[in-house]
Amino acid sequence: MKPIHVGLLGLGTVGGGTANVLARNAAEIARRAGREIRVTHAAARDHNPDVNSDGIDICDDPFAVVNNPQIDIIVELIGGYDPARKLVLQAIENGKHVVTANKALIAIHGNEIFEAAQKKGVMVAFEAGVAGGIPIIKALREGLAANQIEWLAGIINGTGNFILTEMRDKGRDFEDVLAEAQMLGYAETDPTFDVEGIDAAHKLTILASIAFGVPLQFEKTYTEGISKITREDVNYAEQLGYRIKHLGVTRKTNKGIELRVHPTLIPERRLIANVDGVMNAVLVQGDAVGPTLYYGAGAGAEPTASAVVADIIDVARTMTVDPENRVPHLAFQPNELSDTPVLPMDQIETAYYLRMQAADRPGVLAEVTQILGGQGISIEAMIQKESAEGENIASIIMLTQRVIENQMNEAIRRIEALDVIDGDVTRIRLEQLDK
Ligand code: HSE
Repeated sequence: MKPIHVGLLGLGTVGGGTANVLARNAAEIARRAGREIRVTHAAARDHNPDVNSDGIDICDDPFAVVNNPQIDIIVELIGGYDPARKLVLQAIENGKHVVTANKALIAIHGNEIFEAAQKKGVMVAFEAGVAGGIPIIKALREGLAANQIEWLAGIINGTGNFILTEMRDKGRDFEDVLAEAQMLGYAETDPTFDVEGIDAAHKLTILASIAFGVPLQFEKTYTEGISKITREDVNYAEQLGYRIKHLGVTRKTNKGIELRVHPTLIPERRLIANVDGVMNAVLVQGDAVGPTLYYGAGAGAEPTASAVVADIIDVARTMTVDPENRVPHLAFQPNELSDTPVLPMDQIETAYYLRMQAADRPGVLAEVTQILGGQGISIEAMIQKESAEGENIASIIMLTQRVIENQMNEAIRRIEALDVIDGDVTRIRLEQLDK
């Protein structure tokens, strides 16, 4: 059978890894795909000395690759919104299939891209966009197709998890660990995307659409980063039997879909609480299967290339299939996407960790608990750390039961207004992840 010709856009960390994996495993890949897969062309701005570029015609104009009639599959590994969007739409217009690792592009422009691909009868595959080497898209879209997905929660940014882990285990500085993540090729071009949760929100947007059959709605995803997490909170969480992880959580409730990325306390006995370093994990709750957990490297050259190449093989295998009979981009048939609303953040329900500085004298705790009780908030656990000698301030740390967020907002507003409370109340959401 005629070989498949691939054009790579970008030969950086992931592009280089993709070229190398395709070259190294060419014989096995051909046995799996049923035909040879050859990278014939690539566009790259800079020379990457780590790439096996034998037989690849390299230029610096990605549009020349996209418009080359000999190429069957365009692999977009440039990242960012532009020119990636134009290149992908042009490739589709030219009747080429597309594989991309660009979660930002899919989360923001995916609805438009899938519609264009649908019209042209071409595939757009994006496994590498979410959780690096973990085949979570494939698992959700195909392996769990029998289920009603109830919720999923994931550690889906390797850089953020690497930073939290190194800070906790080795007491390293935030900036120092971030610089290492950038050097290793884990971090986004703009690393605030990693630490402020934007990258995780891109990925969560995609997972939620595939889990619940709703259009991509990045703009409705609540995003909170890890830059305000203190060593103190990490320690108190540990004393209470919890770890702080930066989680993406999406849940279908009878009022709508929760879609949120934020630091979260999770019980330390959960497997996902022990996912450290650059590793990612996604816990999925299906009504038939129950909980399933997917774990692996969430970033890096070859782990991400593993997902890119799997997509190329998938496209190669199904190129001749009638487009109507292929697996739909967002798991559900395009005319079956639902308009279930995404819940505003103040309507979501979760438990909380609260930390506050209070005057160390009788009756203070009663004032705080009275406010919480008035908002229907039940306390689950509490630590009070006495003030140092001579100081008159104590730290109060509380875990609460689940409550609607706007009730907690009101309670925090009232607690902060008490003259016995010093400064802001620290609030970190808490998930048991058991049902
Ligand atoms: N910056 C991303 C991460 C790369 O750290 O997870 C993989 O998407």
